[in-house]
Amino acid sequence: MENMKKFSVVIAGGGSTYTPGIVMMLLDNLDRFPLRKLKLYDNDEQRQAVLGEALDIVLKEKAPDIEYTFTTNPEEAFTDVDFCFAHIRTGKYEMREKDEKIPLKYGVVGQETCGPGGIAYGMRSIGDMIEMIDLMEKYSPDCWMLNYSNPAAIVAEACRVLRPNSKVLNICDMPVGTLRRMSHIIGKEPKDLEVRYFGLNHFGWWTSVKDKEGNEYLPQIRDYVAENGYLTQKEVDTQHMDASWQETHKKAKDLLAVDPRFLPNTYLKYYLYPDYVVEHSNPSYSRANEVIDGREKTVFSTAKAIVEKGTAEGSEFEMGAHATFVVDLARAIAFNTHERMLLIVENNGAIANFDDDAMVEVPCIVGTDGPEPLSQGKIPEFQRALMYQQVTVEKLVVQAYIEGSYQKLWQALTLSKTVSSAKVAKDLLDDLIEANKGYWPELK
Ligand code: NAD
Ligand code: G6P
Ligand code: MN
Repeated sequence: MENMKKFSVVIAGGGSTYTPGIVMMLLDNLDRFPLRKLKLYDNDEQRQAVLGEALDIVLKEKAPDIEYTFTTNPEEAFTDVDFCFAHIRTGKYEMREKDEKIPLKYGVVGQETCGPGGIAYGMRSIGDMIEMIDLMEKYSPDCWMLNYSNPAAIVAEACRVLRPNSKVLNICDMPVGTLRRMSHIIGKEPKDLEVRYFGLNHFGWWTSVKDKEGNEYLPQIRDYVAENGYLTQKEVDTQHMDASWQETHKKAKDLLAVDPRFLPNTYLKYYLYPDYVVEHSNPSYSRANEVIDGREKTVFSTAKAIVEKGTAEGSEFEMGAHATFVVDLARAIAFNTHERMLLIVENNGAIANFDDDAMVEVPCIVGTDGPEPLSQGKIPEFQRALMYQQVTVEKLVVQAYIEGSYQKLWQALTLSKTVSSAKVAKDLLDDLIEANKGYWPELK
């Protein structure tokens, strides 16, 4: 450890509800991933300061050797950094609430990353993400961005088109969380397992779950999921725990029924059972409200308590243990570990019968030069058709953003499996344009 290289990390979206959990996790992993500097960066000074000041106290108590700051100044944030962990939310929860509630007015799925809500969020995120990549490259040209800002599928496609040579890796925590559930079901640890998986972000299937000796567990997991979904007896997680998430884990049972050969990503429920989702949504109290009244309150009140007392003793932030995959990813690049991880990458043959230029989610071997996607072979026509429809939606959104095209965004909404007609798509689009004034480029 003494001789191990030490890294400088900036967390972008310093005011995120996930920031304290990530920092606690980093502090717990210093033996694997030593830090010399840690910075928080956000464009909302007040929001970030609450967490920033509390974390200042935590760091002074737990790791005084790490140079720590929080800032809204891009030059200060991005100078001398090796990694940028990015989790920004353009428009914050105020806009997430609109993404979820506006579609519901039209009887359409209202979700953060899927359907019209995800499209609206994508149109807001692209500009901020590209600007941040440029800042990173200006001040630290060798820095890698590990991005989990959503909607990751659209952000990844925008990166592919607009910044194809930038060192940005897009990753999602849902397959990580679900694999933890699977490993619990079969009495293993996630690290014992290797998977095969194909799809898009928030839109995929596991085709194999094996241990390191090569024993296949998919049939055993499938039998369990056919009865219980991914709900487990014992809690295996600190994330994805609210009642609405439990409902989602359970619903995987009905996703599996559509094609029992593969284990589904829970996000498929928005595409395969949109009617069910709408029926079970409360148009005046959406997931954004749950998060505002739950996670956001907990995290920010803990921060305020720490600052008031001047110590973190007795009121510690919860560690985001689930997020150790971020350290695994950083280590893979830093130390060329060749870790096998699911990432969102340009297909280029990884899925043999799918477009080369599609951003897909597949297992990759990650080393110093970035990810090498592993070949997943050919996929069946049902999944292929669903994926082609969805990836085209994502591509149209990015094109609409770049060209300022109303027509293309209308087509994107019309094509989304969650939207029933071009009429509904147009009404929704006009409403979303109004709600996103100041965030979206002007559409003609
Ligand atoms: P949050 O609103 O609490 O935090 C986001 C922060 O980003 C806010 O403090 C906001 O001020 C800041 N921000 C917005 N625009 C910015 C910009 N241009 N530059 C710098 N900072 C900016 O949201 P949250 O619920 O904590 O989630 C954060 C992000 O992480 C979201 O995009 C969410 O979807 C994403 N997320 C992704 C995954 C995944 O699987 N990929 C998992 C969890 C969360
Ligand atoms: C999962 C997904 C993320 C998403 C998050 C939302 O982790 O992979 O992409 O942002 O769920 O969780 P929340 O608790 O904010 O609804
Ligand atoms: Mn995700």
